[in-house]
Amino acid sequence: MSVIESLEWRAAIKKFDSEKKVEQEDLEQLLNAANLAATSGGLQPFKVIVVSEGELKSKLEPHGYGQEQFETASHILVFAVETNISDETVDTYASRAAEIRGKGKNDWLC
Ligand SMILES: Cc1cc2nc3c(=O)[nH]c(=O)nc-3n(C[C@H](O)[C@H](O)[C@H](O)COP(=O)(O)O)c2cc1C
Repeated sequence: MSVIESLEWRAAIKKFDSEKKVEQEDLEQLLNAANLAATSGGLQPFKVIVVSEGELKSKLEPHGYGQEQFETASHILVFAVETNISDETVDTYASRAAEIRGKGKNDWLC
């Protein structure tokens, strides 16, 4: 399937069949895709929290404007963004990236 065909096929689902569950293997593929997503400097400044337990999903619903999808979805992926990114955070990341890539501290992005 081409990229355009995939985009034509997809839709923002408003109600899920709550009897059906996303398979663990498919969930892991989605999480892997999120992990591989491009971010500025590769900082990946987010954590993905997987919510699949009924009561927790209900607790999240008010934070999503009461949308029914929260109750019926098999899993909810919460992207928790790091809001406290300091120079130290970036320095720590840059040092590690430089080490892994075998680069200097000032050219790790190149
Ligand atoms: C940033 C963003 C936020 C969105 N938030 C919601 C949402 O909270 N609930 C929802 O049902 N759809 C949400 N959508 C999906 C849009 O409503 C949907 O893409 C639009 O209605 C067009 O429908 P389609 O994607 O099925 O063609 C969001 C889309 C984007 C890009």
